[in-house]
Amino acid sequence: MSRANTRAIVAELQRLLPNAHAPYSGVHVSAAVETTDGRLYYGVNVENAAYPQGVCAEASAISVAVTQGPTVIRRVYVASSLPEQVWPCGGCRQKIFEFSQAGCEIVAIGPNGELATRTIEQLLPLGFRLDPAKAPRV
Ligand code: THU
Repeated sequence: MSRANTRAIVAELQRLLPNAHAPYSGVHVSAAVETTDGRLYYGVNVENAAYPQGVCAEASAISVAVTQGPTVIRRVYVASSLPEQVWPCGGCRQKIFEFSQAGCEIVAIGPNGELATRTIEQLLPLGFRLDPAKAPRV
């Protein structure tokens, strides 16, 4: 990951933070997923008055990437309005796992742009995968 590129991604994530729709928690989150072709897809959390209908920023970004075609993620960046780094929730770890290659990096961005990185395997050991060819169909 080149430093100049990372700085630009962090700046874009910070620019997008106000766009998060988070009137219930007040926590704004933005995420970028980088696919293996080097493209970047961005998303923010979108809450709903019916709370479980809310969508995390990572899930939003994954939906944008899948919509555009590329589906193999090699890196995920997450920024938030909180004073500490935010790591993807459990559900988003599984969603990232579904679309990522082994060793996919999760980069958590702190309030002053400081970065911490973990692999998806560190965040989700023994993640659940189904081979579509072998998936049981009922
Ligand atoms: N949230 C995300 O968007 N991503 C995460 O990784 C953690 C939590 C959102 C969900 C909810 O809108 C708000 O942050 C507070 O939980």
